[in-house]
Amino acid sequence: PRTARVTGGGEIVVGGVGLSALAARFGTPLHVLDETDVRERCRAFRAAFSEVVYAGKAFLSRGMARWVRDEGLGLDVCSAGELAVARAASFPAERVVLHGNGKTPDDLRAAFAYGVGRIVVDGAGEISRLSVLATGAPQKVLLRVIPGIDPGTHPAISTGAEDQQFGVSIASGAAAEAVRRILGQRRLQLAGLHCHLGSQIADPARYERAVAVLVGFLARIRDEHGVVPPELDVGGGFAVAARPGDPVCAPSDVAGRITGALAAACAAHRLPVPRLAVEPGRAIVARAGVTVYRVLGVKRSAGGRVFATVDGGMSDNPRTALYGARYTALLTGRPSTAERPVTVVGRHCEAGDVVARDVPLPADLRPGDLLAVPCTGAYHHAMASNYNMTRRPPVVAVRDGAARVLIRRETEDDLLRRDVG
Ligand code: LLP
Repeated sequence: PRTARVTGGGEIVVGGVGLSALAARFGTPLHVLDETDVRERCRAFRAAFSEVVYAGKAFLSRGMARWVRDEGLGLDVCSAGELAVARAASFPAERVVLHGNGKTPDDLRAAFAYGVGRIVVDGAGEISRLSVLATGAPQKVLLRVIPGIDPGTHPAISTGAEDQQFGVSIASGAAAEAVRRILGQRRLQLAGLHCHLGSQIADPARYERAVAVLVGFLARIRDEHGVVPPELDVGGGFAVAARPGDPVCAPSDVAGRITGALAAACAAHRLPVPRLAVEPGRAIVARAGVTVYRVLGVKRSAGGRVFATVDGGMSDNPRTALYGARYTALLTGRPSTAERPVTVVGRHCEAGDVVARDVPLPADLRPGDLLAVPCTGAYHHAMASNYNMTRRPPVVAVRDGAARVLIRRETEDDLLRRDVG
């Protein structure tokens, strides 16, 4: 996090609060979120782009939604559940965007009841369903198109190329057909086009290419229908670094590239420049988060590898197992001594439950030590599970020396509450 510093005694301090003090007060594993960091990243994105929609799937709670609301961002939701959190935070409906390749009747009902500003059409089959539900003023929709661009990231988080389940293909003609159908619905208003190339995209050129494809398609809509939808949403996916040296896609760098490509493409097609929106999730919240674990045991394998087992793992961070994500881990609470490579593993019953592989940690690492894993604010708590009937950790916000619980730790009663058989 931006406010992190390390004291002479080896204590990592975030938001003016030592991680050891937080661990003592709230227990471990513990998700810590630096409010100042989140707000500063919101501001950096708003300074770089005209419209910024936070992708709530990265991490959503009432508190988080209020920060994002107060910083003037919109909110991307993809379920009635996320919408319920938005509602609990009094998030302005006009700034909410509903996504999803499988919107359930509940999702759609909740979205219309709330009056969300935009609904992203993911397939032609949705158009008549939306039209039936839109009873008031015409519902603004964006059409999610597939620009046919490989984002150069992990296959599980690639969504811009043809052969995956999101959006409608421009190349196959499906997108043009969907445009025709939307324009034929009186109760829907085609506000613009949307694409989302994928996640952890480090190369700004991929966004430039996407913009060129989308503007080309806007020109085709103008030529065929005589209208120019005024908005373009190029999704999220901006890469962040979990370890020093990992590639990143900073908003200030990529914004210039995207707006430059947009201006050039619009000039080439003699189109007015549409209102540009982006939908960062990870880039807003990932680096604000740190997870604190307590070491339960240290052992050396026959092959000489040193393993440190911590009191969390794939139930609070499934990303190493799912995407081969790499993290670092830092000792906090005492000065570090001579270091050696240690593989930090979780407490779950799988060899794939690795938190951080071969990270330098003190040779005298011992049970009771605290480890901090940075860059865990996005897709960690949001993807946490009760695997092995573990209780999901709390999320504690820190700012100016004070800590506040956003989400409390689960209890065993919580675990049993749904067990009604
Ligand atoms: N917009 C749409 C339509 C999306 O589907 C997503 C993410 C975003 C925006 C935000 O992408 P971001 O800026 O956070 O990369 N669980 C995976 C990531 C899945 C991303 C899903 N969609 C992970 O932990 O890497």
